[in-house]
Amino acid sequence: MQTIKDIQLQGKTVLLRVDFNIPMNKDGTIIDDSKMKAALPTIKYILDQGTRLIVMSHLGRPKGQPNPQYSMKPVAAHLQSLQENKVILAPDSVGPAVQEAVSKLQPGEILLLENLRFHGEEEKNDPQYARQLADLADVYVNDAFGTAHRAHASTAGVADYLPAYAGFLMEQEVNMLRQVLDHPEPPRMAILGGAKVADKIGLIDNLINKMDILLIAGGMGNTFLLAQGHAIGKSIHEADLVDQAAKLLQKAQERGVTILLPTDVVVAEALSPDAEAETYPVDSIPADKTIADIGPQTIKTFCEAVQKARTIIWNGPLGVYEYDQFAQGTWEVARAIAGSQAVSVIGGGDSAAAVQNLGLEKNITHISTGGGATLEFLEGRVLPGVAVVERAGALH
Ligand code: 3PG
Repeated sequence: MQTIKDIQLQGKTVLLRVDFNIPMNKDGTIIDDSKMKAALPTIKYILDQGTRLIVMSHLGRPKGQPNPQYSMKPVAAHLQSLQENKVILAPDSVGPAVQEAVSKLQPGEILLLENLRFHGEEEKNDPQYARQLADLADVYVNDAFGTAHRAHASTAGVADYLPAYAGFLMEQEVNMLRQVLDHPEPPRMAILGGAKVADKIGLIDNLINKMDILLIAGGMGNTFLLAQGHAIGKSIHEADLVDQAAKLLQKAQERGVTILLPTDVVVAEALSPDAEAETYPVDSIPADKTIADIGPQTIKTFCEAVQKARTIIWNGPLGVYEYDQFAQGTWEVARAIAGSQAVSVIGGGDSAAAVQNLGLEKNITHISTGGGATLEFLEGRVLPGVAVVERAGALH
């Protein structure tokens, strides 16, 4: 992978793709700026080389139309507050007004383009739009690991017209995920939770080839409990994927990979903030109850397994951790990971948020900024945004 350290940037105009698609309230207040903070080392390094910097990102899904609700305005203000170099918000991402703003841009200044997805051409990876973006600069840098699973004009197409380099965040994310996937120290463990199996079939399938032990719980664990023949009451599940879950259990068994599922669960009448929590073994879940968390026996088993692992990948919460009475499983496993000696990588927004809520970030080897991108990477897929900075001879 060619990075910004591999090119002489001085005097150049740099077009930097970041993932500033950050969660915000309707009034524009930012809920979590970690993706922005993660891009700051790249921004600082590029500017320190004596460059003019054009930064571009999407925000939300405005469906190819300008929409003030998705303007980069609050992002521009926040970027200004996070670092000292002057930030100017462009009125659009392409066109004469943007070209004029670029022509006035001084070395050391940042021009933040307006939301790329105000143009439908961005998501279509339209070559003309990619060309217009490329024409603004001399060099393209992709630091948007969180958007690297999208083959869009700004994440892929633009590299057809400019020499492409990775930023530090892209480099770090790819290196860490490759390390745990391709060179993990055994015992190797993946902990998988979250609501849906449908999103994670490919992931589980690939991880069975790479890991020694898989812990599966959360909403998606329910489908595996069904595949094992347990009645799960009113719990959410994906009836059409029970056979697939059974096949994955079978594949793991054939390969000598251990899959641990919950042996006891916390249940409630509803997944609501004031619902009363009760614990049952998985072979006697009441028909009128819904699974909301893993039970104390399962927590103990999972935490003991975590302590023995040397490599841990965690994606997805193990219960409805938004409500205190169903958060125990997620909290305890998060604490166990943070306390372990293993190389630990956390992918996915919810598990990252759980670790951040507990203030345990410093005890985790790597918290990925990618949700969908991390999942696709761990599934073993080639991410278009990574491919363009790894392409041999890519316009260098
Ligand atoms: C994300 O937040 O996962 C990325 O920015 C990608 O956003 P998207 O799912 O709208 O393409």
